[in-house]
Amino acid sequence: MEKALSKTWSERFDKGLNPFIEKFNASIGFDICLLEEDLDGSIAHARMLGIQEIITKEEALRLENGLQQIRKEASDGLFQPVTSDEDVHFAVEKKLIDLIGPVGKKLHTGRSRNDQVGTDLRLWLRKRIDEIDMDLERLQKSLFLLAEENLYTLIPGYTHLQRAQPLSLAHHLLAYIEMAQRDRNRLKDVRKRVNISPLGAAALAGTSISISRKITASELHFQDIYSNSLDAVSDRDFVVEFLGASSLIMAHLSRLSEEVILWASEEFAFIELTDRCATGSSLMPQKKNPDVPELVRGKTGRVFGHLQAMLTMIKGLPLAYNKDFQEDKEAIFDSVKTVKNSLIAISILFEEGLIFRKERLNHAVSSDFSNATDVADYLVAKDIPFREAYQLVGRIVKTSLEEGILLKNIPLERWKTFHKFFEKDIYEKLLPSSVVESRLSAGGTGFERVQEQLFYWREKLFN
Ligand code: ARG
Repeated sequence: MEKALSKTWSERFDKGLNPFIEKFNASIGFDICLLEEDLDGSIAHARMLGIQEIITKEEALRLENGLQQIRKEASDGLFQPVTSDEDVHFAVEKKLIDLIGPVGKKLHTGRSRNDQVGTDLRLWLRKRIDEIDMDLERLQKSLFLLAEENLYTLIPGYTHLQRAQPLSLAHHLLAYIEMAQRDRNRLKDVRKRVNISPLGAAALAGTSISISRKITASELHFQDIYSNSLDAVSDRDFVVEFLGASSLIMAHLSRLSEEVILWASEEFAFIELTDRCATGSSLMPQKKNPDVPELVRGKTGRVFGHLQAMLTMIKGLPLAYNKDFQEDKEAIFDSVKTVKNSLIAISILFEEGLIFRKERLNHAVSSDFSNATDVADYLVAKDIPFREAYQLVGRIVKTSLEEGILLKNIPLERWKTFHKFFEKDIYEKLLPSSVVESRLSAGGTGFERVQEQLFYWREKLFN
C-alpha cells in the first residue's frame, strides 16, 4: 500500500512526535522564506535527473511543472504549510506528491535535505547580498549629494571629541562613503564563497546515483561546486563571513548615527531635523527626537549578537551536518532585515531628514582654537623647528584663554612680542577657510583635494 508522505521520515518510526517537540523541531515557521530558492533548487535537480536519465524526461517535466504550480499557489496564498510539515523542504515535497502523485516521490533522488538547505540558503543570501549592495550604493549617493553641495561648508573636526581642526563638511561625509565602499567590496568578496554549490553532496558522503553536480550548479548560476561532500554540507563559514561584513556595515551606520544625534543636540546644533524623520515627545512639546539614528544605533547590537551566536554555534560541531545549523536561518534573516532597513532609513535621513545649520557651523569654526596648529605651521614655514613653534603656540593659547580672547583678536604688536616673525599675514592664516584650504596633502581636507574626491565619486556613483 502506498503511504502518503504525511509522516516525513521512514517506516522506522511508528509513533508520532510529542507535540511540543514537533514544534520545537520545526523550522517551517521561518524557513518558508526560502520557498522560492527551494523551488529553484528542486527544479534544477529535477532537470538534472532527467538529463542524466536517472528518471525519464517526461517524469522530470512533471516534477518541474508540479514545482512551478507550487510557486503559483504560494503566490496566490494557497500554499500554507503547517508545523507538522517540519520544514520548507518537506513541505514542498509533500505538496508536490499531493499535486502530481507518486512520481513526486522521485524528486529527492540523489540528494538530502542537508545539501538542499545549504543550497537554498546560499541562493537566498546571494540575492540579498546584491540587494544590500544597492542599498549601500543608495546611502553613498545620498551622502554624496550633500557632500557635493557642501565642499566649502566648514565643520569642526574632532579628536577625542575635542575640537581639533576645521574640515570641509564634504570631507567629513566622504569618509562615510569610503566606509560604505569597503562594505560593498567586502560583501562582493563574501559573495564569491556564498556562490558555491553544495547540491548533490547528499547527506554527507556523496551518492551512488549518477547525478551531475555540475549541471545543477550551472543551472543555479553557482560559480563552482564544493570539492568535498563533508565540507559542502557542514560549511557555514559564509554565514559567519556575511554576518561579519554586516556587523561592520552596522558599526559604520551606528557611528554615523551617533554623529547625527550629537549634531542634532542643542549643545552642537549643527543640524536641524526635518519633520520627515524626527518624532516628538509625548510630554515635552518642545522636543524633536532623532529616533531614526537612535534606532539604527540600537539595532546594531542585534547583528553583532547574531555574529557571536553563529561563531558559537559552529565551534563545537563535528562533521558533518548537525541540526544546530538550523539556527543559522533566523540569524541571517534578522540580520538581513536589520541591515537593509537601517541602510534605507539612514539614506532617507540624509535625503530629506536633516538640514545643516550653516550659520551655526560657521560660528563654531570661527570661535575656537582649532586654528592653533596653523600658527605653528606659519612659524615652521619661517624655518622655526616644529617642536619649538608648538611650545610657543601652546603658550599663546594659554594666555589667550586666560584673557578670554581668540587668536584672531590678538593685536599684531602682541603677536610680535611672542615672536618677531609674526606679520600681518598671520590673520589670513587664522581664517577657518584658510586653515582648511591649506591642508593639501594627499587625502587631506584642502578644498582642492576634496574637489578631486568629489569628481572621483561622482564618476563612480553616477556614471
Ligand atoms: N530544517 C533543516 C535545517 O534548517 C533542514 C535540514 C535538515 N536535515 C536533517 N538531517 N535533519 O537545517
